[in-house]
Amino acid sequence: MAAAAHEIGTSSRATGEVVLEARNLRKNFGGIKAVDDVSFELRNGEILGMVGDNGAGKSTLIKIITGAYQKDSGEILLGGQPTEINSTGHARELGLETVYQSSGLVEVMDAPANLFLGREKLKEGWLGKYFGMIDKRFMRRETDNLLKTLNITVRNLAAPVQTLSGGQQQSVAVGRAAYWRGKIIILDEPANNIGVDQQRAVLELVRQIRDQHDIPFIMISHNMEHIFQVADRIIVMRNGKKVGDKRVADTSRNEVVGLITGALA
Ligand SMILES: Nc1ncnc2c1ncn2[C@@H]1O[C@H](COP(=O)(O)OP(=O)(O)O)[C@@H](O)[C@H]1O
Ligand SMILES: [Mg+2]
Repeated sequence: MAAAAHEIGTSSRATGEVVLEARNLRKNFGGIKAVDDVSFELRNGEILGMVGDNGAGKSTLIKIITGAYQKDSGEILLGGQPTEINSTGHARELGLETVYQSSGLVEVMDAPANLFLGREKLKEGWLGKYFGMIDKRFMRRETDNLLKTLNITVRNLAAPVQTLSGGQQQSVAVGRAAYWRGKIIILDEPANNIGVDQQRAVLELVRQIRDQHDIPFIMISHNMEHIFQVADRIIVMRNGKKVGDKRVADTSRNEVVGLITGALA
């Protein structure tokens, strides 16, 4: 099992053009330099791992990119174009899909409702147009297809997603990001709080979506094994600064831990 898990990560892929570039981003909270002059690139088809201790600035960096926080200075380029990202809604319109630790699903709603949350498909014609009637059949069919492609088995599509396992919920959340043609999918601790087998399923799903759609991912994780299993490249944050940017093929767990703790600083 351990050997197989190891195997997943050994194929680092050649990657495509730069889809996201962050240049000299800064964000202070009072006297705290939460993000301190951070630059990095993300290429198509790349899984970029982001690691660092608590308080290192990972979430702040992600929140700047996903429009939840406004940067103090610096620049964000999407597809080479300098872009101001004003809000999380704006980020989503630009194709930045974020999956949070808590999967971001509405637990009492079923999988189709979650897949189409906030983007419900209305019925064709006047029923949809004038009465806002939702095309549940379409939504079910799409969800069914999506889950099948992603090898997620949900016994009853009409059941609230809280009846799914934690891993399945995460998978639905990741699948949703892919379904909406996210240009970039950002995962903040995707496999936290779920069982080991389920974690593996979520990581495999990330790989599958990347392989099939060439969608790049940024994945924050505390789990060094997860990072080494799926990432092509690793960014290490420490005290708001980027202290490492390494291809997985060119580094080791020891080196990355050293960068996280500052032992190698
Ligand atoms: N909204 C905020 N207000 C004040 N300080 C914040 C806020 N968000 C983050 N910080 C501070 O910024 C630093 C970086 O935090 P964060 O980005 O959450 O780190 P990480 O995600 O790596 O654990 C920490 O010192 C944290 O206390
Ligand atoms: Mg965080």
